[in-house]
Amino acid sequence: MITDAQRIAHLRTTIRQHNHRYYVLDDPEIPDAEYDRLVRELQTLEADYPALVTPDSPTQRVAGQPRPEFQHVRHRLPMISLDNAMTDEQLAEFHQRVATTLGNSDPIRYTAEPKLDGLAVSLRYEKGILVQAATRGDGTTGEDVTHNARTIQTVPLRLLGEDWPEILEVRGEVYMTRSGFARINEHLQRNGQKPFANPRNAAAGSLRQLDARITARRPLVFCGYGWGELSVAPGENQYAMLQRLATWGIPVSEELQQVAGLDGCRDYFVALEQRRDALDYDIDGVVFKLDRLADQAQLGATTHHPRWAIARKFPAQEELTEVQAVEFQVGRTGAVTPVARLRPIQVGGVTVANATLHNLDEVIRKDVRVGDTVIVRRAGDVIPEILRVVSERRPAAARIVELPRQCPVCGADVIRPEGEAIARCSGGLYCPAQRREALKHFASRRAMNIEGLGERLIEQLVTLDWAREPADLYHLTLEQLAGLERMGAKSATNLLAALERSKSTTLARFIFALGIREVGEATAQALAACFDGMPAIMQAEEADFIQLIEGIGPVVAAHLVGFFAQEHNREAIERLLAVGIQWPLSVLPVSATPLAGKTIVITGTLSRPRDEIKDWLQRQGARVTGSLSKKTDYLLAGDAPGSKRDAAQALGVQIIDEADLAAMLE
Ligand code: IVH
Repeated sequence: MITDAQRIAHLRTTIRQHNHRYYVLDDPEIPDAEYDRLVRELQTLEADYPALVTPDSPTQRVAGQPRPEFQHVRHRLPMISLDNAMTDEQLAEFHQRVATTLGNSDPIRYTAEPKLDGLAVSLRYEKGILVQAATRGDGTTGEDVTHNARTIQTVPLRLLGEDWPEILEVRGEVYMTRSGFARINEHLQRNGQKPFANPRNAAAGSLRQLDARITARRPLVFCGYGWGELSVAPGENQYAMLQRLATWGIPVSEELQQVAGLDGCRDYFVALEQRRDALDYDIDGVVFKLDRLADQAQLGATTHHPRWAIARKFPAQEELTEVQAVEFQVGRTGAVTPVARLRPIQVGGVTVANATLHNLDEVIRKDVRVGDTVIVRRAGDVIPEILRVVSERRPAAARIVELPRQCPVCGADVIRPEGEAIARCSGGLYCPAQRREALKHFASRRAMNIEGLGERLIEQLVTLDWAREPADLYHLTLEQLAGLERMGAKSATNLLAALERSKSTTLARFIFALGIREVGEATAQALAACFDGMPAIMQAEEADFIQLIEGIGPVVAAHLVGFFAQEHNREAIERLLAVGIQWPLSVLPVSATPLAGKTIVITGTLSRPRDEIKDWLQRQGARVTGSLSKKTDYLLAGDAPGSKRDAAQALGVQIIDEADLAAMLE
């Protein structure tokens, strides 16, 4: 048994080590959520044993040690931190405290803005000129990063306008956009250097470069959210003051808003959390500040944080857990993919028990071993991923992951061609896993759209050997189907009707449904637009000829030719045509429509389901793709088009709505 006093001592040592790694080395070992838990545990214990609190406890000062190489800067007004609210109740308590102190019945107005995940910086302007930039450091003393901050494009070297105070200290956050972070990490990796763990570390590491030329090459951004020393009084409220900063050229958050009362705070929080993943920068919560500066003054501050502001934090997206096993799954094209089985853990409110590892190269690059402690990240709907291994916690018995020689499902050899990241089961459609995946793909919504033919059912059909290939689906009988698990006569009848309906489709869907490697929807559309039927495509034996089709390169062409060269694939197609699959709806003659050959991206909400519109556009000969590029001809934008609209504008892609489309086709 360890005593509370021992636990306190242990926590202090651990937290100090983490502080050092985080603030001095820019190389944290554990996720923030884990760190916060350690600090909270220590705070709770210290609250229980006030006599054990020592001045050198990490709870007694704001962490952060200036690096010896930088000049130190003493902040004229301390840079204090923020208090956190992890739950709605804690936010309500904050609001209640504010209301009680202010004591009047007026509705309380707050400003709301994202809590940016970067590092706090103070910019000092004298007579409108940037004279000093300093990091927060321990809150009293920071590091002089003037040379580095001067390289950040969004930091004005000279303020705009004239009505600025002679002395103006702007406080704000330096951070890195997600796209910038991806770019820089790719660059570092290409040059054999260690990538940054996340955009925040990248921002910290970049700003605190002794060589400002390196900082200059890093995509850093500054956003102002407050102020320090001012030679004149700042006006009446927070919001107006930030807007004045903006008129002087200081960037402030596009998301900054005034909100009313606790309800206003909650609404803002919910709305921003929903958009969190769509932003191009990491945020870890929302900061609410009392808007009236007189009210702020009345509430005052502790040495650690103001009593007039609070950070309502989002649930953490990164957590620590353990890799209990690494298993291999076999996909539709035989790709053998490692999947980590994790000790189940809550991440951002959802239990995570598996994470994909993509391929063996990734396992090697991340050096993931069975038994390792890893940091898992789950963002929005994205599949959970292992960010990295906490190598300090690797047990001696950790086991290296090896590619199986035989397919774990059918036992056929696993082959990994020279220079390729992906290993494949050589069993082809003899492998039940590949067969199952191929059928799932065939039946899926964007392929043949066979309603009611889900994963479970396909699994049973494959196990019973009733469906070896897609055409078999169309030979299933009512008696067979009605006898399956979770199936009655009614659903069996419905399924047969759905199968019947699916026989009328488009050529593009049919080609896509075949599941030829690298042939996605866009390629299938391109093929459908150029050939007038399956026999014609199957006869195109020359890869060179297929490559003449826009959007089809040598690799895809080779896969196509290879696919059709195999007798069993041709036979499978013949059998499908024999059950009566046809495309009455397929393309018009290519030259006949103004959309023929145009590349279109769809965004926002349209008058009809997106798939329907997509099919219709394809029948007009258009190519519908998912992502914008310079080659895109039109962005078809519905309601709430989101960031694609801005991207299209930036790329010079013409933006049209449904009415424009109708007009074009007149
Ligand atoms: S205000 C006196 N506003 O959060 C109030 N801070 O956890 C001081 N941060 O050190 C901070 N976004 O680095 C404020 N919109 C925002 C912020 C923000 C990020 C950071 C800042 C601060 C830390 C405290």
